Amino acid sequence: MNESLLSINNLKTYFYTEEGVVKAVDNVNLKIKKEEVLGLVGESGCGKSTTAISIMRLIRAPGKIAGGEIWFDGEDLLKKSEGKMRKIRGGKISMIFQNPMSSLNPVFTVGGQIAEAIKLHQNVQKREIKEKVAEILDKVGIPDPSERLEDYPHEYSGGMAQRAMIAMALSCNPELLVADEPTTNLDVTIQAQILELMKALRKDFGASILLIGHDLGVISELCDKIAVMYAGKIVENSDLTGIFKKPKHPYTQALLESIPRLDVETERLRIIPGTVPRLINPPSGCRFHPRCEHAMKICSEQEPLLTEIEKEHTVACHLYTSNSKPSH
Ligand SMILES: Nc1ncnc2c1ncn2[C@@H]1O[C@H](COP(=O)(O)OP(=O)(O)O)[C@@H](O)[C@H]1O
Ligand code: SF4
Ligand SMILES: [Mg+2]
Repeated sequence: MNESLLSINNLKTYFYTEEGVVKAVDNVNLKIKKEEVLGLVGESGCGKSTTAISIMRLIRAPGKIAGGEIWFDGEDLLKKSEGKMRKIRGGKISMIFQNPMSSLNPVFTVGGQIAEAIKLHQNVQKREIKEKVAEILDKVGIPDPSERLEDYPHEYSGGMAQRAMIAMALSCNPELLVADEPTTNLDVTIQAQILELMKALRKDFGASILLIGHDLGVISELCDKIAVMYAGKIVENSDLTGIFKKPKHPYTQALLESIPRLDVETERLRIIPGTVPRLINPPSGCRFHPRCEHAMKICSEQEPLLTEIEKEHTVACHLYTSNSKPSH
């Protein structure tokens, strides 16, 4: 039960553009145990989607997985043939992409697409397929599922398309679900419904989930553990309590301070100054140093390495690895 289902070791995914090499994922390590939900958070442009797409082995030129290992169920996915990967995708591992409309094919009905996914990975009798599709659509909360399965994607609202994507991802009972910002751009009510749905599905299906998002508040609803990503690197990794009660990395602290809270109306939300750097020429040393209020001399000179400072709580910051005293 305790072993890792997914173990990413020193993953490097680079985009070889005309302007230079974009090191979107640069030595990333992540682990997900069976039935565990890991949240991957960070601002836009930090490399979250690239990490997810690397797991699916769907990185396209000019991108390339330049190094590392992705162990899943005891095998390195990076060593698998494309044919074997195709069986794993939408089988043992499935993914909900950031933009549901772009992943549903506009020329086929929603039901038809889910039926295809089922046929590919499960042994279901032809006459039972429609029933099965309606059952799955019903599970994700699509009203009148046996009628709505005949609809084309454009006839669905954004929220319904997102549900249909979740239905498709779950139609094959995956062992690992990679969900890339599954609730971004949806209104708050639907966002809450989709999170509830994922919670229920996690319980029913017993799948592990990699849940990606830029909002720590939303992510925390569902996760057991959180990995914080900044500019292509994991900067902090801990269980929920560690991140929310004892955040160590200044970036994690800043992300937490930028979450809207209902209980403190008067305080203004903090905005993290500056922007995520372009990853062609990232800042030297700690990539967060130009935006960090605790930056010291060593921070621009030496890269801080991920270090375990409490049990299963790791952080990459010189405040904890150098002789300087932490200010928090
Ligand atoms: N196809 C691509 N070509 C060049 N650069 C890319 C490509 N896809 C992503 N990137 C770059 O990789 C970095 C990480 O992007 P992404 O993984 O989409 O981040 P996130 O999902 O955290 O917003 C960004 O700097 C982005 O510009
Ligand atoms: S290493 Fe330095 S710049 Fe980076 S987060 Fe820590 S204190 Fe800030
Ligand atoms: Mg993304």
